[in-house]
Amino acid sequence: MRIMTLGLWLVCLTTVFTSCYYDSEEELYPGTGGGVCDTSNITFSGTIQPILTSNCNQCHSSSIASGGVITDSYQALLPHIQSGIFRKAVNHEPGASPMPQNAQKLPACELSKINAWINAGAPNN
Ligand code: HEC
Repeated sequence: MRIMTLGLWLVCLTTVFTSCYYDSEEELYPGTGGGVCDTSNITFSGTIQPILTSNCNQCHSSSIASGGVITDSYQALLPHIQSGIFRKAVNHEPGASPMPQNAQKLPACELSKINAWINAGAPNN
C-alpha cells in the first residue's frame, strides 16, 4: 500500500513538472509565436510593408493621411523615418504620439524587425 501511494505521488509530480516545462515558451517570448525572432533578411516589401498594411494604413493612407503621415507609400513614409518620428511613435518613445493609436504596441518581434530595417538605412527593397 505504501509503495502504491509513493508511486502515485511520483506520477503526479512528473506530470506537474513536465507540463510546466513545456508550456512556458510563449510567455517567455511573447509575439514570436514561441520561436526566436529572426531579424535577418528584412526587406521593405516582404517584411515592413505587410506590418504597415495590417496596423497603420487604415489611418495613414494617401486618402486618409492622419497627422500628415502616409504609411502606404515608401516615398511618402521616408521623410517621417528620417526625422525619427516614425521610430519614436512605434516604439512608444517620448517625443511622438504612441502608435498604433489607441492600441497595443506592436508585438516585440515586429518592432525588432522595424528597428533593424531603420538601422540598416530603411532601404526600399
Ligand atoms: C486608428 C487610427 C490610427 C492607426 C491605426 C495608426 N495611427 Fe498614426 N496617427 C493617427 C492620428 C489620428 C495621428 C495624428 C494625431 C497624433 O499625432 O496623435 C497619427 C500620427 C502619427 C504619427 C505622427 C506622430 C507625431 O507625434 O507627430 C506617426 C509617425 C504615425 N502616426 C505612425 C503610425 C504608424 C507607424 C502606425 C502603425 C504601426 C500608425 N500610426 C497607426 C491615427 C492612427
